[in-house]
Amino acid sequence: MKRLLALTTAIAIALPFTPAAADSPDSPGSQGAGDPYFPLQGNGGYDARHYDLTLDYDPGTRVLKGTATISARSTQALSRFNLDLSKTLTVASVTVDGTAARFTHEGDELAVSPASAIAAGKPFTVAVAYAGKPTHIVDPDGSKEGWIRTPDGVFNANEPEGAKSWYPGNHHLTDKAGYRFTVTVPSDRVAVANGSLVSQNTAMGRTTYVWVAKEPMASYLTTVSIGDFTLTDTTVGGLRTIVAVDPEHAAAAKNLAQRHGPVLAYFSGLFGPYPFSTTGAIVDNAPGVGYALESQTRPIYPKVPDEVLLSHELAHQWFGDAVTPERWKDIWLNEGFATYAEWMWADKRGATPLSTAFSRAYARTADDRFWQIPPADPGNAKQLFKDAVYVRGAMTLHVLRKEVGDKAFFTILRTWVADHKYGNASTADFVALSKKISGKPLDALFDAWLVKPGKPAL
Ligand code: ARG
Ligand code: ZN
Repeated sequence: MKRLLALTTAIAIALPFTPAAADSPDSPGSQGAGDPYFPLQGNGGYDARHYDLTLDYDPGTRVLKGTATISARSTQALSRFNLDLSKTLTVASVTVDGTAARFTHEGDELAVSPASAIAAGKPFTVAVAYAGKPTHIVDPDGSKEGWIRTPDGVFNANEPEGAKSWYPGNHHLTDKAGYRFTVTVPSDRVAVANGSLVSQNTAMGRTTYVWVAKEPMASYLTTVSIGDFTLTDTTVGGLRTIVAVDPEHAAAAKNLAQRHGPVLAYFSGLFGPYPFSTTGAIVDNAPGVGYALESQTRPIYPKVPDEVLLSHELAHQWFGDAVTPERWKDIWLNEGFATYAEWMWADKRGATPLSTAFSRAYARTADDRFWQIPPADPGNAKQLFKDAVYVRGAMTLHVLRKEVGDKAFFTILRTWVADHKYGNASTADFVALSKKISGKPLDALFDAWLVKPGKPAL
């Protein structure tokens, strides 16, 4: 009551002197999106709609010159807003709607103050010119990500935080946008990114590649990888399939494009239509990188993938890429689902029966530390990619399938994708959908498998 009165008085006094909140000198967007695992990742106060990235990279000098033109829409009045960008890169200028803006760059936060404040709910364009020698980021779990240099260019994988190592943006997974990449490299190198290759022009020893990714994409799924690649552009099962391969992997990658066909056809039958307009792969030599990543439409691999890895990254196109978690703690919605899809593909092609995959995983003894990490929240950024997230996540889906039956189970998966395609969803959304479609009270099941530490009983 007291507080309410005080507030009313403050408003009454402030009003005559403050014509519009938008002109208030003090309405900054927050410097993070509020994800407990990465508090400064992403930014508040606006929604990025489209990124136009113009990049020039010289693998010899390792210098990247870039301009990022971001079309956004404010979600509040903004006297100032932030972009995520590593301090390794130096910003030369920032404009908002074509007018020079003031900026500061501290830590990995670029704070932009437009010449005049942006009103709530308004489209605006911010352009950032920057340059420097990007370096990779070391993850909380010790792995490398971001702009990872290779002998001939860059292996670019950005989950969960790598994007800020090479371009400014709203880098939380809830802010999806369309992208256009215009990348200039020496003519003896190839630049490969997400989506469709729309042009390739060589002049004076340099080649400019233009790639367009039209379906909304979270920034951790972007890639601009550079190397001495052989690029093939074919149609497989009616889908444009663009594959870039480092010469060292050429022999093993011979039929890689064709191998996408049966996997995508099988998954489309189970999960609903493939959600993007192109597919493909990047196979690069990246010393010290031990993982692959499901970059949207173009997963990146440190070797030619076997059927297990190929099916895992392709399943992510539905689970992770089309439907993206709302918070990093929901990561089992990516990894548990992709692992279960990998098991289903192994069963389908006659390699390992699904029941064997499940019982092998379940055979871990109750005192195994594996059972201490509950998939619904692995605890912190360091544990994001722990085995339990992948394998116990996949086991959860198998147990759910046994409980509700195949018909309800696949209806749940297809509805999940149809309802949240190009957006975000949480574990709570998945639990609610499973209950609704199956008509069963599944709380005890999800509680035991996803939430509580310890080995669940069967
Ligand atoms: N999402 C990737 C996969 O399972 C793993 C990414 C691991 N990233 C990392 N920085 N360690 O396919
Ligand atoms: Zn995965």
